Amino acid sequence: MQPLLDSLGRPLLDLRVSVTDRCNFRCTYCMPRNIFGKDFPFLEKEMIMSFEEIDRIVKIFVALGVRKVRLTGGEPLLRRNLPNLISMLSMMEIEIALTTNGVLLPRYAPALSAAGLDRVTVSLDAIDEATFASITDSGHTVAAVMAGIEAAESVGLGPIKINTVVKRNTNENEIFDLVTRFSNRDVAVRFIEYMDVGSTNGWKMDEVVPAREIREIIGAREPLTPENKNEVAKMYSLDDGGKVGIISSVTEPFCSNCSRARISADGRLYPCLFSSKGLDLLSLMRSGVSDSDLQGVIENFWSNRDDRYSENRSHHNSNRHRIEMSYIGG
Ligand code: GTP
Ligand code: 5AD
Ligand code: SF4
Ligand code: SF4
Repeated sequence: MQPLLDSLGRPLLDLRVSVTDRCNFRCTYCMPRNIFGKDFPFLEKEMIMSFEEIDRIVKIFVALGVRKVRLTGGEPLLRRNLPNLISMLSMMEIEIALTTNGVLLPRYAPALSAAGLDRVTVSLDAIDEATFASITDSGHTVAAVMAGIEAAESVGLGPIKINTVVKRNTNENEIFDLVTRFSNRDVAVRFIEYMDVGSTNGWKMDEVVPAREIREIIGAREPLTPENKNEVAKMYSLDDGGKVGIISSVTEPFCSNCSRARISADGRLYPCLFSSKGLDLLSLMRSGVSDSDLQGVIENFWSNRDDRYSENRSHHNSNRHRIEMSYIGG
């Protein structure tokens, strides 16, 4: 089957589906508590896609060539009965992954695995409890995330990837501790440059710790051997067999092979993490569109896609409206 190409020749291979815009953490760079407080207008239940609606959309994307589906949030494990959705999706020939903050994994990992989930990626920005508490602002602990990682490993949801967002003067001191904590285990820690997603985190360029500096911090203590893999993260192996990755979306963007489509919990399709407007697939479905018409709409959308925000960052107006990470799920 020929993959569907966008206007810059990039195939549609990956789909990320957000299942909720809520989260039990309040990471300062993602859902700052002063904005995402009690009065924040989260999506109402009826505005959110049902599992049947998600299943229907995913089938169409699979017909168009998608082979990897990642469930995201907010925190996807807050969505009630999530294993039921995974059972439905597991009928398709796809890999199913999930990005989570990890604290609900001890409770749900066995059911997720039994339902057919293949892998999890866990977000963890620090090993030091005080640093973790000040970033996540939620009362949860590093120990709880570690228990989640172990629960996932024990039911076969590995190899596990860890996502660490690195922010200047916040957690660059944690980089090497994270590397050592997970070396000798089949866990890859991936350091992500802090990005200007959304418009609530007050992002500033001088808070980004560039990939080059992250490589230097690790490389000064352990040699890094680059691996040649075509992934979002540039992967390196360590002498002890461990693996680390660096996701350099700010200083070394990778738009030219971006093959991901993203759908928010309210069923809007976005061509880029930095989009301001999405295509409302949920309203189309609820208005009774046929599968073949829906497929045509998505084909047309992808064929016209020309987004490459990170490669053009300096030309964009920083006041332009952008969707929030908690809404689109990274
Ligand atoms: P694998 O397929 O398991 O390698 O996962 P992944 O790297 O595609 O997924 P993951 O969600 O773990 O990606 C890690 C993080 O990298 C995301 O949460 C984002 O912060 C960032 N990221 C992923 N994809 C993109 C992208 O297309 N553009 C930008 N700018 N950042 C991205
Ligand atoms: N920059 C980089 N990564 C971010 N994430 C959330 N907000 C940002 C940001 N501003 C990461 C989370 C999680 C993933 C879904 O996205 O830490 O690992
Ligand atoms: Fe933190 Fe992820 Fe929740 Fe955002 S969605 S507040 S990054 S745990
Ligand atoms: Fe893809 Fe947009 Fe990220 Fe570029 S900035 S890699 S186009 S999501």
